[in-house]
Amino acid sequence: MIIDGRSIAQSICAKLWEEGKTLPRKPKLSVILVGENPASLSYIRQKERFAGIAGIDFELRQLSVDTTENALMDIIHEVNGNRFIDGLIVQLPLPRHIDTNTIIEAIDPRKDVDGFTSQNIGKLFLGTADLISCTPKGIMRLLETQKTKIQGENIVVIGKSNIVGKPLSLLLMNAGGTVTVCNKDTKDIGIFTQSADIIVVAAGSPGLLKKAMVRPGTTVIDVGCTPVDGKFLWDTDFQEIEPLCRITPVPGGVGPMTVAMLMENTHIAAKNQM
Ligand code: GUN
Repeated sequence: MIIDGRSIAQSICAKLWEEGKTLPRKPKLSVILVGENPASLSYIRQKERFAGIAGIDFELRQLSVDTTENALMDIIHEVNGNRFIDGLIVQLPLPRHIDTNTIIEAIDPRKDVDGFTSQNIGKLFLGTADLISCTPKGIMRLLETQKTKIQGENIVVIGKSNIVGKPLSLLLMNAGGTVTVCNKDTKDIGIFTQSADIIVVAAGSPGLLKKAMVRPGTTVIDVGCTPVDGKFLWDTDFQEIEPLCRITPVPGGVGPMTVAMLMENTHIAAKNQM
């Protein structure tokens, strides 16, 4: 059975549009892109489209690929000080001559709608964050919408990135799940996944999760999206697993939920600052 992230994401954005009517002005999201990475441009176009549906003003500041770290910092400080901009994200990856951590830490945590700053990650650890990074938050919302039980369940997260694996494991732990974190080098992932009630695959390793590694009835969330020869490959053997499990498709599963959560975070940031 397929979990339709796209329709859930659209209804979240429609609700945000309605809620926005009660605010003194429209929330505004600023996106900074350094360079012309085609994948980044495609993600940004999707963010712009969702912002339109959620009633959020959107601006893109596209800088040349040779922008210096100092020049980028100056722009971040300018946006930080602009009271008409509620949310700021710097699209990743950045060119190699710019230090990603330095740049993320320069974002005002109140405008950090990606939830990437150490302050917001620290709050996530403590379970007190209101700006939670968008992919893990979107996965939690998908599970909630499906009324999937988390407390006491065996949950396997495959992937240890700062953007998905680590924050998602904390959210699932805070919600009472028994969480095992594997990665693509784990010796026998099947040992763990065969006793799982929920599996999240975010390893960026196409076809990693096979039918034989999954019990029927498991909920499977596929975050994989690896570009190969102009196509995107998934982390699961989707066609084989889909008849046995509840599973998110790619595209149309976690991706739209991530963008919907970015819009929700922009609303939260706006309400906190207005
Ligand atoms: N690049 C890929 N995913 C993301 C994301 O969630 N936020 C930012 N800022 N850049 C990304």
